[in-house]
Amino acid sequence: SYGIKALLEKGKDLLLQEVVVNGWVRSFRSNRFIALNDGSTINNIQVVVDFENFDESIIKQISTAASLSIKGEVVESEGAGQEIEIIAKEIKVLGTAPSEDLKGTILQPKQHSLEILREQAHLRFRTNVFGSIMRVRNSLMFAIHKYFNESGFVYINTPIITGSDAEGAGEMFHITNLDMENLPKNEEGKVDYTQDFFGKSTNLTVSGQLEGETAAMGLGKVYTFGPTFRAENSNTSRHLAEFWMIEPEVAFAHLDQNMDLAEDFMKSVISYAMENCKDDLKFLAERFDKEQKQKPEAERSELGLIERLEYVLNNQFIRLTYTEAIEILKDSKPNKKGKFKYPIEGWGADLQSEHERYLVEKHFKTPVILFDYPAEIKAFYMRMNDDGKTVRAMDVLFPGIGEIIGGSEREERLEVLDEKMEKFGIDKEELWWYRDTRRFGSVPHSGFGLGLERLVLFVTGMGNIRDVIPFPRTPNNAEF
Ligand code: 4AD
Ligand code: MG
Repeated sequence: SYGIKALLEKGKDLLLQEVVVNGWVRSFRSNRFIALNDGSTINNIQVVVDFENFDESIIKQISTAASLSIKGEVVESEGAGQEIEIIAKEIKVLGTAPSEDLKGTILQPKQHSLEILREQAHLRFRTNVFGSIMRVRNSLMFAIHKYFNESGFVYINTPIITGSDAEGAGEMFHITNLDMENLPKNEEGKVDYTQDFFGKSTNLTVSGQLEGETAAMGLGKVYTFGPTFRAENSNTSRHLAEFWMIEPEVAFAHLDQNMDLAEDFMKSVISYAMENCKDDLKFLAERFDKEQKQKPEAERSELGLIERLEYVLNNQFIRLTYTEAIEILKDSKPNKKGKFKYPIEGWGADLQSEHERYLVEKHFKTPVILFDYPAEIKAFYMRMNDDGKTVRAMDVLFPGIGEIIGGSEREERLEVLDEKMEKFGIDKEELWWYRDTRRFGSVPHSGFGLGLERLVLFVTGMGNIRDVIPFPRTPNNAEF
């Protein structure tokens, strides 16, 4: 018994051997040629059915989406594209899929839009495009673990239920075990959320960073890789309410080393996926080309998908301060009108993704690491620079994506951290455990967070983050 990927890889080595293959019918032409797929690869194996050898009742049950187990002989294929095919000897129909039942589903053999695929997320694993994306996603996840393990990092799990708001942005989902019919009230008559979790206010984690820092303060180099939740009501093609984040944290590392790590890490995992997902990326690259042609010229990617990936691997990321970026953006003419949709407000304002993408796609044409952002627009834990205005933050910006990584060197000086927390209105008592790391052998340390889905978007060339995660959670989307 062979998986179709392994079977096609062995190819002619298997000539004249008897094999068993299982899969779903992608198409059945002329009552003779079955294209069978089992999800292990984008490629189908062709099975030839001599219908004189089979009962008509069996032939009738073979149709698109039906599941089959086939015993047959491997022979050389005359058709172009594939070395081998299988001459069926025995066909077991495991599950039928009558064509009238397929009506209205994405399993019907015709072109379906990505929007329609999303509405039937439970069936889209059977499609070429989503199958490819899932295999690339898997390869990237594996590459991430491989990279860190080979670099001496310890994988740690940070809590999903937590009392902390790591980013201080208040974008949290409350969780509670309280009786909804009978919520406790405080003196002001408002719901008393401090009773959420057996007497503590809790939420789903927005980042494992703060807990990750405590681990790095004992284990040196750690990383987390887990689900992350943001209650931001932003309906964009780059935001999910539930996404997967990778967060390395390194003791004794300054911002420069953090940037080195981010660049080396990104290149390594992208290169792994390119090496291990060639067929899927070839298919996705063709899709990407077609998609680009439908876009207005100004929005088109100058490079094809594979060329863009290679470009990232072969070029150094540009490192630029926030202040330098503002200067460039102020003087830039992003389009014919010469204006951004959101004008550059000057030093101190946060950048919009159109600004980030301008720097990457038009100005430098290579990934950019922006650093030293104004303290006010970044989180409380970032290390203050000597200028008293900027912090040691870094965002990695990618073509077609904008921000793909956010990170920083952390404030390791307790007095400065305390001042900062006060300024940001963060309760020192709440984060007593975090402050402890600065009391007992504090060291410089740095880390960053990569959104897995943004990485998958980049590598697959897809345009909407809902299409690169099995079951996307966004406002209006919690069906499955
Ligand atoms: O920039 P963010 O908010 O940084 C942090 O959470 C830090 N605690 C990370 C760290 O230093 N350890 O998020 C990091 C990355 C972003 O650059 C983006 O790729 C992704 O997480 N991200 C999202 N991805 C999908 N949907 C969302 N709503 C996202 N919010 C952030
Ligand atoms: Mg960020």
